[in-house]
Amino acid sequence: MRYSKIVGLGHHVPETVITNEYLSGIMDTNDEWITERTGIKERRYVDPVKDTVANMAAKATRMALERANLTEKDIDFIVFATITPDYFFPGSGVLLQRELGLESIGALDIRNACSGFIYALSVADQFIKSGMYKTILVVGAEIQSTAIDMTTRGRNTAVIFADGAGAVILQPTDQPGILSTHLHADGRYAEELYVRDPGSSRPREERQPEQILDTTTFKVVMNGSQVFKHAVVRFMEVINEALAANGMKKEDIDLLIPHQANLRISQFVQHKLELPDSKVYNNIMRYGNTTAASIPIALSEAWAEGKVKEDNLICLAAFGSGFTWASALIRW
Ligand code: COA
Repeated sequence: MRYSKIVGLGHHVPETVITNEYLSGIMDTNDEWITERTGIKERRYVDPVKDTVANMAAKATRMALERANLTEKDIDFIVFATITPDYFFPGSGVLLQRELGLESIGALDIRNACSGFIYALSVADQFIKSGMYKTILVVGAEIQSTAIDMTTRGRNTAVIFADGAGAVILQPTDQPGILSTHLHADGRYAEELYVRDPGSSRPREERQPEQILDTTTFKVVMNGSQVFKHAVVRFMEVINEALAANGMKKEDIDLLIPHQANLRISQFVQHKLELPDSKVYNNIMRYGNTTAASIPIALSEAWAEGKVKEDNLICLAAFGSGFTWASALIRW
C-alpha cells in the first residue's frame, strides 16, 4: 500500500509584531477584551514593500526543503492554499513556482480559507497515492493585514486575522503516513464569513471599479457568534470521524494541531476530547489567525520544538469560511 509522508516542514512569519496595545491605540478595543475572547496577544504583519504571499511561501518552502534534505528541483507539483492571492488571477501557485526558479511543473491554488491547508494536503495525498507525482509542495500563506479594516468598525476581525506562511513536502512511502483526510462544506453559510468583492456576483454596471462607492464590500464580513457555534460542533465531528475511520480512540492522539481560529475554540475542543495541554499545540497567542497558513506554521513549530516524534499520531483539524471543515490523521 502506498501512503504519503511529510518529509519536510517550514514556516515564515513577517518581522513586524503588532501587539494588542498597538491596536488599542488605533481603534476602540483593549488587551483584556482581545485576550479573553480570542487568546491572542500579538500577531505579525507584512512589510508590503518587501513581502508577498508568494515570497513568504518561498521562504517557508526553502526551510522545508532544507529540513528534508531536498532542493527546489525535486519538487514536481505545487498545491497552494490561500484566500489572499497576490493577484485576483492567476493564483499564487504559479508565482511560487517562479520564485523557486522552477519551470513547467503544475501549480494548483485552493481557496478553502481556514480549511484550505487540509484540503490542499488531501489533494496532494491523492496524487501521491495514485503515483502521479513523487514530491509535492503543499503551502498555506496569507497576507490579511493590508485588507483589514483598521478602524473600530472592523475591530471584530482586525484583532483576529494576520499574516504568515507554512509549507510541507510530501513524498511516497510504503509505511503508514497520512492515514486519512476528511473534507466537508456547507455553502448555506457562505455569507457568515466572506469578502464579497471583487466577485462576479454583481451586474455589469456595479462591477466596474469606478461604480463601487461602498468599498466595505472588499472587507471581511464575519458573524463571530455563528462562526463560533458551528466551529465547536464541526471540529468535534470531523476529529471523531477521522478517529472512527481508522478504528482509533481520542486517547490515541499524541498531538492535536487545530487550525488557530481562536484559542477559546481550541480549548473547547481540547476539553471535549479530554486531552492534556501537552497534547494540543497552540501558537495563536503569538501569531493570531493566519487562515490557511495557521496549521503548517503550527506543525513546523511543533516539530522544531520536538513535539512531533516518530510514530506519533498527529491529528490536524480545521473550520472556516464556507463553511468548510476538515481533518487529517497522520502516523508520523
Ligand atoms: N474590542 C472590543 N469590543 C469588541 C471588539 C473588539 N475587538 N469586537 C467586538 N466588540 C464588541 C462588539 O461591538 C459588541 O459590543 P456591543 O455588545 O456593545 O454590541 C461586544 O463586543 C460583543 O460582540 P460579539 O461579536 O457578540 O462578541 P463575541 O463574544 O461573539 O466575540 C468574537 C466576538 C469574534 C471574538 C467571537 O465571536 C469569536 O471568536 N468568533 C469566532 C471567530 C473566529 O474564530 N473566526 C475565525 C474563523 S476561522
